[in-house]
Amino acid sequence: VSTRAAFVQGATRGLGLELARQALGRGYAPVFATGRKAGSSPGLAGLRETHGEALVALDLDVRDERAIEAAAERVRERTPRLHLVLNCAGVLHEPEGAAPEKKLEHLRPETLRHAFEVNAFGPLLVARHLLDLLGHDERSVLANVSARVGSIEDNRLGGWYAYRGSKAAQNMFTRTLAIELERRAPGCIVVALHPGTVDTELSRPFQGNVDPEKLFPPERAARQLLAIVESLQPEDSGSFLAWDRKPIPW
Ligand SMILES: NC(=O)c1ccc[n+]([C@@H]2O[C@H](COP(=O)([O-])OP(=O)(O)OC[C@H]3O[C@@H](n4cnc5c(N)ncnc54)[C@H](OP(=O)(O)O)[C@@H]3O)[C@@H](O)[C@H]2O)c1
Repeated sequence: VSTRAAFVQGATRGLGLELARQALGRGYAPVFATGRKAGSSPGLAGLRETHGEALVALDLDVRDERAIEAAAERVRERTPRLHLVLNCAGVLHEPEGAAPEKKLEHLRPETLRHAFEVNAFGPLLVARHLLDLLGHDERSVLANVSARVGSIEDNRLGGWYAYRGSKAAQNMFTRTLAIELERRAPGCIVVALHPGTVDTELSRPFQGNVDPEKLFPPERAARQLLAIVESLQPEDSGSFLAWDRKPIPW
């Protein structure tokens, strides 16, 4: 039985850590799990204890293209193909102390830049450096974890310029990538996924207004996303899907 290899970018905690755990549970091996502090992530250390060499933790700040290249090289040393790439890293209140903007006066170029680098450029550059590992004759999926607030059409509340704008840019990159890979890696399905509101550090300051039934523990959110990933068909490539598999307007 041939194994399937996975790469989870942004897997040191929160939703990404849970996606890495469940990918291992579903038999993906090796699972490459990355983040700025992958080497010192207690969550990843725990997975390493349970799964041994099937879990490969790689330090990767997705703002650093050289680090992406180096990580891709480490992947190639272990496996010639990837069957799943999940770009999960995302920032909402970084750099330190930044809060999502409620009005123009709250804008800070540094916060905008940081959000775009991590949320939008990161997944695209990862795709660029992993492309050769995804273009094979078996099924593969590249899923970028997006957010409903990145939908332009769905935007009725406004605010959160950096986060919304960077996720909208990520969405455009996902769609554009899907079109390019149709030709260059036809077996690869490319999608944007909205996980719902997930109980993590990212959402913690904003959970007050969320219906408790709509606040998913990471375990549930990851299970829902992986179920979608497993069900995707070639014709789904280029779509933006929510946790319940309903399409979201771009
Ligand atoms: N939570 C929600 O309600 C919610 C809703 C909609 C969409 N999402 C999306 O879901 C994804 C996961 O979010 P989460 O809630 O799990 O957030 P989280 O708990 O804050 O985790 C964020 C992850 O991103 C990584 N990361 C941040 N900056 C990075 C960088 N420069 N380079 C590499 N990795 C970086 C972090 O690792 P290190 O700190 O180790 O680098 C961590 O693993 C994000 O894309 C987010 O936008 C979340």
